[in-house]
Amino acid sequence: MKDIAIYGAGGFGRETALLIQQINKQKPTWNLLGFFDDGLPKDSRVDGLIILGGREQALQYAGAISIAVADPSTREKIVNRLKSQKLEYPSLVHPLAQMGSEEFNTIGRGCIITAGVIMTTHITLGDFCIINLSSTVGHDVMMGTFTTIMPGCSISGNVTIGQGVLLGTGARMLQNINIGDHSTIGAGAVVTKHCPPNETWVGVPASKKIP
Ligand SMILES: CC(C)(COP(=O)(O)OP(=O)(O)OC[C@H]1O[C@@H](n2cnc3c(N)ncnc32)[C@H](O)[C@@H]1OP(=O)(O)O)[C@@H](O)C(=O)NCCC(=O)NCCS
Repeated sequence: MKDIAIYGAGGFGRETALLIQQINKQKPTWNLLGFFDDGLPKDSRVDGLIILGGREQALQYAGAISIAVADPSTREKIVNRLKSQKLEYPSLVHPLAQMGSEEFNTIGRGCIITAGVIMTTHITLGDFCIINLSSTVGHDVMMGTFTTIMPGCSISGNVTIGQGVLLGTGARMLQNINIGDHSTIGAGAVVTKHCPPNETWVGVPASKKIP
């Protein structure tokens, strides 16, 4: 068993603690030490797990850590602030996720793939991606670093998703489209054409949300 800590004790951090327990049920792998969280008192407890401290304590920590914060830009900030050579970022995969082709798929470090995800073939995920409950990822999909796929999304074949993108719950991407860096796709959207960087698109069919 190898030590691991989770950064972020919010909803997704607690789900990640459960994911680690479920990995361990299938094959004892991780000794979960507790959470780092900047907003909670050190030594307090969340779901029975100890708060090990915030950023300062995380910088003192050496070992495996999972950054379990769903918001892409917050996750990226945390990783950039933790520039420590002593940290390792394993990717965590729920036993009930189907990861598809071992030969043709590439998964970066620090990713979190939760229960019910189905991936097929020729898929590349950058570092620190989150793919949440029951999302599907079709053939020839590329995903940039720090992208978050919320639960129940359907990503068709030949879709390219940039860095720091958020796909809201239940969003669907038609085939052969690109989502630009740091764009947000609203919950329930059906994306039928290319979405440029730094935009928010909502609706069916999806279009730019005017602020
Ligand atoms: C698209 C989104 C990012 C917009 O957030 P926002 O800028 O804070 O928007 P607001 O909540 O202020 O809503 C502004 C308007 O957009 C509409 N809107 C918000 N989200 C929408 C969506 N997904 N689809 C269609 N319209 C949406 C609102 O009804 C509101 O309309 P109105 O001005 O006519 O009243 C957000 O609503 C969203 O869908 N986020 C994804 C959340 C998610 O998937 N969470 C998963 C948790 S596990």
